[in-house]
Amino acid sequence: MRIGAIIKTAPAAALAALLAAAVLIACGPGNARKEAAAEKAVAEPVLAPTPPMGFNTWNKFGCNVDEKLIRETADALAETGMRDAGYKYLVIDDCWQVSRDADGRIVADPARFPGGMKALADYVHGKGLLFGLYTDLGPKTCAGRPGSAGFHDIDAAAYAKWGVDYIKVDWCNADGLDAPTEYTKFRDALRRTGRSIVLSICEWGRNDPWTWARGVGQLWRTTADIGDNWESVTWIIDANSHHYAAAGPGGWNDPDMLEVGNGGMTGEEYRAHFSLWAIMAAPLIAGNDLRAMTEETKSILLNREVIEVDQDPLGVQGRVVIDRGYGGQVWMKPLADGSKAVAFLNTTGRELDLYVRWSQIDLPAGPARVRDLWAHKDLDVHTDTGKTFDERFEVKVPAHGVVLVRIRPDQTP
Ligand code: GLA
Repeated sequence: MRIGAIIKTAPAAALAALLAAAVLIACGPGNARKEAAAEKAVAEPVLAPTPPMGFNTWNKFGCNVDEKLIRETADALAETGMRDAGYKYLVIDDCWQVSRDADGRIVADPARFPGGMKALADYVHGKGLLFGLYTDLGPKTCAGRPGSAGFHDIDAAAYAKWGVDYIKVDWCNADGLDAPTEYTKFRDALRRTGRSIVLSICEWGRNDPWTWARGVGQLWRTTADIGDNWESVTWIIDANSHHYAAAGPGGWNDPDMLEVGNGGMTGEEYRAHFSLWAIMAAPLIAGNDLRAMTEETKSILLNREVIEVDQDPLGVQGRVVIDRGYGGQVWMKPLADGSKAVAFLNTTGRELDLYVRWSQIDLPAGPARVRDLWAHKDLDVHTDTGKTFDERFEVKVPAHGVVLVRIRPDQTP
C-alpha cells in the first residue's frame, strides 16, 4: 500500500505511529528494529474502516435477554441474508450480568445464560458473526447491574477469554468521572488483552465525544436514546448532523441504533430513518426482532444500494447542502467512485417539491445519471417528462419521507 493511500484511510493514532516510524527511518541509520516498527504501523488493522453493522438487543428486548434469543438471532442473521449484507456484530446490551464472584470476576446471569458466554460466543462465531457485550464505566449499569468501575482489566480479560469482539460502554452512574480519561483507560485495558475489540462509546454526546473519541473508540454516541417515533428520529438527525467533520474511517458518530421494524413508525418513516443513517455514515445496528420480520422490514434493512452508501470506503458523513427552513432538506454524501448520494428529506406532514443543482453538490456541469435507491430504478438521462438531467434534479417527496438517489456524471458520449 502506498503511504499516500494509508494517509487517506488511517485513523489518527495509526497515522501518528506511521509518521513517527517514517521519521525514525528517515533520520536514523536504517536497522531491522526500526523497519519492523514501520511495518507494524503500516499493518496496524483499522478496526472499523466503515461504520460497524450488526444487531443489538436493547431497542426491542430491553432486559429480556437470554441465550435462546441470542442463538435464534444468530441463526436469523445468517438465514435472512442480514449477515451477508454486512450485519456482522451480534451485541447483547444491558442485563446479561448479575454479580461478581469472590475474585471480582463478572458473572453472567446463570438462569438466562446457563451455557456461559464462551459457549455462546463460539456459537455466534460459528455462524460467521462477531460477538458483542455491554458494560458501563460507573459502579452500576443503567439497568442497575454491576458496572466496570474499578474492574477494567478484570473485565477486559474476561471479554478476551470469552471471544468478545465488540464492547458497548455506557456512562450511567459515572458522575464526577472524566469521560475522555475513563474511556481512554478502558481502551488501554482492552489493548492489554491483545485481542482486537471494537469500543462503542456511549455517553450520549454529553462530553462532546466528537472532539476526543477518535483513537479511543471506533464509534461514539452523539445523542440521548432513540425512540421508535418520528419526532425522535428527526430530532436525532438534526443533532447528529452538526458533527460530520469528526467522522471517517476508524471513527464514527453514532446517532443510536435502528428502530426499523419495531412498529412505531410507517414504512415511509422507516425508509427515511434508514436513508438518513446511511447518508450520515452511521453505524447500522438493527434493533428489531430478526426472527419475525415483515417483507417491508426486510426490504429496508436489506436494501443493498442504501447499505452501499453507508459503507462507502471514502467514509465521509453526508451533510445538509440545502435547508429550505420549512422541513425540506437536501443532503449530500460524496462517494468513492465520484458519484454523490443525495437524500431529499421531508419532515412535514404534506408532500414537498425539492430540487438540487449540480453546483450545490460538487458535480461538474453537464448530463448526469440519476438512480433511485428505493425504487431500484435508473431514472437515467431522461425523466418521464423527457427532460435531461443536465443541471438539476427535482423530485416530489412524500410526507415524513425521503427520496434517496445516487447521481453520477454521465461519461457516455
Ligand atoms: C442507556 C443506553 C442505551 C442502553 C441502556 C441500557 O440508556 O444509552 O442504549 O444501552 O442504557 O440500560
